[in-house]
Amino acid sequence: MVPQLIDAFERKFYYLRLSITDVCNFRCTYCLPDGYKPGSSPHAFLSLDEIRRVSRAFAELGTEKIRLTGGEPSLRRDFTEIIAAVRENPAIRTLAVTTNGYRLARDVTRWRDAGLTAINVSVDSLDPRQFYAITGQDKFRQVMAGIDAAFTAGYHKVKVNVVLMRDVNHQQLATFLHWIKDRPIQLRFIELMETGEGSELFRKHHVSGNVICQQLEQQGWQRQIRGRSDGPAQVFSHPDYRGEIGLIMPYEKDFCASCNRLRVSAIGNLHLCLFGEQGITLRDLLADDTQLDALKMRIQEGLRSKKQTHFLHQGNSGITQNLSFIGG
Ligand code: GTP
Ligand code: 5AD
Ligand code: SF4
Repeated sequence: MVPQLIDAFERKFYYLRLSITDVCNFRCTYCLPDGYKPGSSPHAFLSLDEIRRVSRAFAELGTEKIRLTGGEPSLRRDFTEIIAAVRENPAIRTLAVTTNGYRLARDVTRWRDAGLTAINVSVDSLDPRQFYAITGQDKFRQVMAGIDAAFTAGYHKVKVNVVLMRDVNHQQLATFLHWIKDRPIQLRFIELMETGEGSELFRKHHVSGNVICQQLEQQGWQRQIRGRSDGPAQVFSHPDYRGEIGLIMPYEKDFCASCNRLRVSAIGNLHLCLFGEQGITLRDLLADDTQLDALKMRIQEGLRSKKQTHFLHQGNSGITQNLSFIGG
């Protein structure tokens, strides 16, 4: 299909990150350190029908991959129905989720049967006590069992996200490498990003992904080429390892040059970037099927105002208070 989502800088958008809830049951230090506060969102989250309509509009605009995010997306009772609804669009070849893994062991076969094709799980430490300290939940073993259950259910690869934090996990590369030696896991180190609520944590713990990059190159890891709907990670592989390593380094100055993704928040706002803008409301066009063309037009017109970069490398944390409301 001819891509119809192109911005002023000739970037093409094949990838939608669709948040379906702000609610999360973990309290990760870098995201929701005080936990989710009920009632903190002024509006109800998108309904199943609204999700069906928004995903159809994006599919008809050339989107080929949708990632369901949150908060924790699997806390929605209709999560399996949401998966099936998004997959009604044949153009959406990849339907992924980013999850904290809490419900994986219990539900992954149901998600697979409904059409979920890819799973990313957050695991910031392989030490159960440190995992607890970071997430506020003593669920390390449950999350590990969830990753195993995903393999048993037939997923060939699982991606694992580690937010890199100085003096917390930044010197644990060897432990992580050992873990992926014989497992088909793509383990991605994500640079800690400064949010409105996380400035202090950022000052204390931000460390560049270059500390990992240099070690990988010294140990013979090789950079892979990115596909057009791939996420932002630079992926490295090594002949002695079944797993891969990815680095997500938003503070590198060219990070946004390859931006291929848009976001819709759980209350139906289109966000052109993770940082720095309020969002464009889509909700008034999601009430019934007759407004599909108007919806598509609003998305295309909105995209014209997408900026070239987030300017994080120039000290901007934008207006994004935490990444849970927009799904990272
Ligand atoms: P794949 O397509 O499977 O590679 O996934 P992904 O890396 O796009 O998805 P995931 O939800 O696992 O993203 C990991 C984290 O990377 C997110 O939670 C964000 O923290 C960060 N991230 C993803 N996209 C962007 C982006 O466009 N800008 C910035 N600054 N960070 C991003
Ligand atoms: N910095 C970097 N990544 C973050 N995430 C949430 N908050 C931050 C932050 N401040 C990402 C992590 C996590 C996903 C759900 O959101 O990648 O795995
Ligand atoms: Fe795209 Fe914004 Fe992410 Fe940069 S920070 S890659 S412009 S969404």
